[in-house]
Amino acid sequence: MSKNVLDYETVALDQSDNSIVIIDQTRLPGRIETIKLHTAQEIWDAIYLLKVRGAPAIGVTAAFGTYVLAKQIVEEYGEEEGSFEAFYKRFRQQKDYLNSARPTAVNLSWALNRMDGVCQQAHKDGKSLGQILEALGEEARRIKEEDIQVCRSIGEYGLSLVKPGDGILTHCNAGQLATCKYGTATAPIYLGQERGYHFRVFADETRPLLQGARLTACELHSAGVDVTLICDNMSAMVMKKGWVNAVFVGCDRVAANGDTANKIGTSVVAAVAKRYGVPFYVCAPTSTIDLATPTGDEICIEQRPSEEVTEMWYRERMAPEGVKVFNPAFDVTDHELITAIVTEHGIARAPFRESLENIKRGIR
Ligand code: MRU
Repeated sequence: MSKNVLDYETVALDQSDNSIVIIDQTRLPGRIETIKLHTAQEIWDAIYLLKVRGAPAIGVTAAFGTYVLAKQIVEEYGEEEGSFEAFYKRFRQQKDYLNSARPTAVNLSWALNRMDGVCQQAHKDGKSLGQILEALGEEARRIKEEDIQVCRSIGEYGLSLVKPGDGILTHCNAGQLATCKYGTATAPIYLGQERGYHFRVFADETRPLLQGARLTACELHSAGVDVTLICDNMSAMVMKKGWVNAVFVGCDRVAANGDTANKIGTSVVAAVAKRYGVPFYVCAPTSTIDLATPTGDEICIEQRPSEEVTEMWYRERMAPEGVKVFNPAFDVTDHELITAIVTEHGIARAPFRESLENIKRGIR
């Protein structure tokens, strides 16, 4: 049987040539192509150009990237005693550079800070550069493994919110391609599929970069899920018809009050869901919950090039030359529109300030 997109790892480390291997998501669904990233520039570009994307997958790429680049620095400087300061200076430069690729998904800085913490701790413990490298490699692999467990657990909690035969709507791609397995918003769908739930899924196409059409529809269809692709402006119609029992979306950053940044258009879906009484669930690994950001107003929203709106994907330009374009990559859904936030440690409900803090502190 030929391989489908779910048979590939979203992000992997190739120790043999010290590189990161990713599926180039800009080529999907037409071509399943893996590419190798060796340099800081290649890793930065892959994240910025959305060859690898989705908050958790960006975090894992940054973690492997830190390891790959740290190894190159050690090769450059040698491993002698006392060279830690020179190594760490370059390490921090590379970390800051990777962190500048995309601003909204907190997983990027979260993963980089975890790697930095491991590096500093290993140095404090008197480890050699070789041992520091080893610790960095282990931490990067741990971040990836944890992502798989976290997504599966989100899937279990999410599944408890729906029943067999339900209609589920999702926006953008918070699927396996955005993580290392299962996805976040798609995790309940995949677990339901394993258990014969026969969900009917509606995937918003997600303008302007079409993550819903190119990625979500592709991976769910490959898994044999009953998935129907709709344009972004059709969600009200399918909800009004009563075809949707729940909305599941992913997120890039959850503020302390429960406001949530996710792919542009998510807040429109949330408002429509409220209008038609459809529960709106945000699936969030606790790594995405940022208690240091008080509300959605403080979340930095990435602005993308105008060409993504005016001409990308079209045979010819579809907007007049010189017209003004506004192209934010994400929007913030007000916490009042969110029914619950589904994490790997449980389901947070309003008041979110309290429930999110409890979940972060391990109190369920
Ligand atoms: O710009 P993208 O494609 O990286 O945006 C992705 C999303 O908005 C996802 O919903 C989010 O990162 C969660 S992925 C589990």
